[in-house]
Amino acid sequence: MRAAVPAAAVEPPLLVEALSFAWGDGRLALDGCDLCVPGPGLWMLVGSNGSGKSTLLRLIAGLIAPRSGSIHSTAKPALVFQNPDHQLLLPSVGSDLQLGMSPELPAADVPGQMALALEQVGLSGLERRPIHTLSGGQKQRLAIAGALAGEAGLLLLDEPTALLDPDSQRDVLALIGRLCHRRDRPLTALWITHRLEELEACDGAARMESGRIGPWLNGSELRRSLNPLPAGRAER
Ligand SMILES: Nc1ncnc2c1ncn2[C@@H]1O[C@H](COP(=O)(O)OP(=O)(O)O)[C@@H](O)[C@H]1O
Ligand SMILES: [Mg+2]
Repeated sequence: MRAAVPAAAVEPPLLVEALSFAWGDGRLALDGCDLCVPGPGLWMLVGSNGSGKSTLLRLIAGLIAPRSGSIHSTAKPALVFQNPDHQLLLPSVGSDLQLGMSPELPAADVPGQMALALEQVGLSGLERRPIHTLSGGQKQRLAIAGALAGEAGLLLLDEPTALLDPDSQRDVLALIGRLCHRRDRPLTALWITHRLEELEACDGAARMESGRIGPWLNGSELRRSLNPLPAGRAER
């Protein structure tokens, strides 16, 4: 019989150490930020506007480079923005999904991979639909399908429900919860929220302030300890 691997030997899906970053004005948006996401699951960050949450996700996604510090991830990251119109670029569902897929994928495998990604987000059969005919919630699920079709394992969600109606908010939260807890290759999600009720659905939640992140806490406990935060600024 093989010896069980001690938990400490399992590499965390995301490890951020002493990360610092300044935008053009020279002020540190991230200031020696540490974060260890210990395993697959749904992990949430809360914090006031300007505390550095979106900057952190952009650094993890590799869109910007840190001034100092390190980021190690065992899975491919994919960003999901607050406003899906900012990331769905092509006119149809199928063409947009294809944009995010590996160029090395054999052409014969493309339709199957597309169909699988759409099935996982509840949009089966919509390959030919023009994107402008989708609802806000469907667009957000399509953005998540894009991450799946591109074989991402680390979803970085920046207030993904902020612009959605209550039913779509619940759908997207439940969808990410399922993907992060499925038996086969569960995903890791880092989810920024201003909706404190969403904290009830996470595996751990932490507070970000002034470019640094506190310890992981139980989501319900963190919710109870917080006064309502000001609403997230909508992207324009
Ligand atoms: N594109 C940008 N250019 C210049 N400064 C920025 C930019 N994005 C964010 N900042 C600044 O970086 C700091 C952190 O912002 P941000 O990461 O957006 O915080 P949060 O997402 O927590 O609201 C703020 O002071 C903000 O003004
Ligand atoms: Mg932000």
